Amino acid sequence: MLGLLREIGTAPGQRFILGEHTRRFEDLLRESLGAADVVACGSGTSALGLVLTAMGVGPGDEVVVPAFGCAPLAASVVLRGATPVFADIHPRTMVADPDEMERRITARTKAIMPAHMFSVMADMPRFAAIARRWGVRLVEDSAVAQGATLDGVPAGLWGEAGVFSFVQVKSFGMPGEGGAVVTRDAEIGRRVRMLRNHGQDGIRRFVHHVVGHNSRFDEIQAAFQSRRLAGFPQRLERRAAIAAYYTERFAALSTRGVVPPPPGLNGRCYYVYAVLAQRREELEKHLLHRAIGSHAYYPLPLPRQAAFAPFTGPQDRWPNAERASAQALALPVYPHLTDAQVEYIADAVCEFAGK
Ligand SMILES: Cc1ncc(COP(=O)(O)O)c(C=O)c1O
Repeated sequence: MLGLLREIGTAPGQRFILGEHTRRFEDLLRESLGAADVVACGSGTSALGLVLTAMGVGPGDEVVVPAFGCAPLAASVVLRGATPVFADIHPRTMVADPDEMERRITARTKAIMPAHMFSVMADMPRFAAIARRWGVRLVEDSAVAQGATLDGVPAGLWGEAGVFSFVQVKSFGMPGEGGAVVTRDAEIGRRVRMLRNHGQDGIRRFVHHVVGHNSRFDEIQAAFQSRRLAGFPQRLERRAAIAAYYTERFAALSTRGVVPPPPGLNGRCYYVYAVLAQRREELEKHLLHRAIGSHAYYPLPLPRQAAFAPFTGPQDRWPNAERASAQALALPVYPHLTDAQVEYIADAVCEFAGK
């Protein structure tokens, strides 16, 4: 890293954003995915916004999003002047339920935006079929699923456009903010490229074709990520092995109030490993007592957040999202854990559940 800093800091061009390192990083990702384009940008949140804007989402439009997940899923829609419509999730995998999303489609729906959640990818073949059936756009929030594949297709390429996040906690996190739009549609790529840099086309400076944003990518981070890309599959493999071990150990706990994700390898991502625990606070304390960190992701469903409640109706209900918010607990799954640590964590959870 120090070498990269020196190299980029002392290069004659003094180019610190959107230079050759960013281009190379984008090319590496594009080639490894088989995408039409990859556009590195300021964050995963920004990537979602750029995609929605590139698709022309705006006032009067609705975008169906999962009721359980991170704030940018809804905020990116609201910030385009459109309305997020919240669909309930699958009770065990916690990803958006295709039937629920389809039920929420109206004449005003411009796009559906399923998100991969924790360790399970959304059912993208069904979402693709729903988007085709209703003639709506398909945005894939694959921010947490870089490196995952479903039926041989990489996460990010199921939708017309997908996104990655490189924020520190993600599987391919880095020391700073960053994200990418990945797409199999070259035209979306072209528009996003303009939108990320004030509507310029990359050929002539200070000529603005559209109203854009500042969502540019840092050269030092690009060089850093390009170096680390080669080791990414091994780190994902290690995460997968840890997740598989937990799932096997926890299989017998389902009837004892701790439900692991379903077993399997197809359509899996390993950003966060979350169980559903009926006595979540007690499990959290039990683990903490043994010096094991855990984290309750999303203590409120999105439509129950003060920020997004104005976009809901009085009769709206999301029972599975409510349950996930009350029960989901993430366990350590990072690749540097030793086998002994993984076993210690699994033992502690099993001990809690009385197994
Ligand atoms: C599903 C999902 N979408 C979008 C984002 C936004 O990514 P970022 O934090 O890079 O803005 C995140 C992570 O924070 C996420 O988990």
